[in-house]
Amino acid sequence: MVWTKDGENMNTKLKYKGLLLVLLGSLALPVAADEGWLDGLFARKNGVAAVKNALYQEECGSCHFPYQPGWLPERSWQRLLSSKALEDHFGENAELDESDRQAILDYVLANAAEHSGYKRSKKIMHSLRDGETPLRITETRYIRRKHHEIPRRLIEDNPKVGSLSNCDSCHTEAARGNFDEDTVRIPGYGYWDD
Ligand code: HEC
Ligand code: HEC
Repeated sequence: MVWTKDGENMNTKLKYKGLLLVLLGSLALPVAADEGWLDGLFARKNGVAAVKNALYQEECGSCHFPYQPGWLPERSWQRLLSSKALEDHFGENAELDESDRQAILDYVLANAAEHSGYKRSKKIMHSLRDGETPLRITETRYIRRKHHEIPRRLIEDNPKVGSLSNCDSCHTEAARGNFDEDTVRIPGYGYWDD
C-alpha cells in the first residue's frame, strides 16, 4: 500500500498515540491496584477521613448515615455519646452496652475534627466559636453556609431527602468522605449546578 504524505503522518501519529496509551496504561495499573494511596491524597486535600471502624459503622450507621468523626470536635462527641445522652438521642433511644459505648467513644475522640489533617475538618473547626459545642453537624456555621442556597422544597419537603442530616441522600460519595460539590445529586432534582 502506498501512503500519501498525509497518510504517513497519520500513521506515525497513530503509532505514537498507541505507544503513549501503552505507557499510560502501565502507569495506571499499579495506581489502580493500590487505590488507597491516590484516594488518600485526594481525600486529605478535599474531604473528611472515611469511617474505618466496623463497630461504629454498624451501631451508628443503622438509623442514619454514619457521620465521620471528623465533622465535630471532641467536646461535641463527648456530649453526644454520654450514656445519658444516648438514651434520648434526638428523640430516639440509641443506648449502647458500656463496652461498645467506650470503644466507639475512643474511636470517635481519636478521630475528632481537631485531630484530623483533612480539609473539611479544619474548616469545621475554623467555623466554631470558642467553646461552642454543636450537637449537630448541620448546626455548624460551615455546613449551614454551604447549604443555605438550597430551597426547602429540595430538602425538608423532598420525600426522598427529608432532612439535611441525610448527607448521603445527596452526596453520592459521602461514605468515602468526599463531599465535593460536583458529586452532589439531589434526588428528584439532579446534579447541582450553582
Ligand atoms: C435509633 C436510631 C439512631 C441510632 C442507633 C443513632 N442515631 Fe444518631 N440520630 C438519630 C436521629 C433520629 C437523628 C436526628 C436526624 C434528623 O434530625 O434528621 C440523629 C442525629 C444524629 C446526629 C446529628 C446529625 C446532624 O443533623 O448533624 C449525630 C452527630 C448522630 N446522630 C450521631 C450518632 C452516633 C455517633 C451514633 C452511634 C452511637 C448514632 N447517632 C446512632 C437516630 C439514631
Ligand atoms: C439536599 C441535599 C443535600 C444534603 C442532604 C446534604 N448536602 Fe451538602 N451539599 C449539597 C449541595 C447542593 C451542595 C453545594 C452547595 C453550593 O455549592 O451552593 C452541598 C455542599 C456541601 C459541602 C461543600 C462542598 C464544596 O465543594 O465546597 C459540604 C462540606 C457538605 N455539603 C457536607 C454535607 C454534610 C456533612 C451533610 C450531612 C450532614 C450534607 N452536606 C447534606 C446538598 C446536600
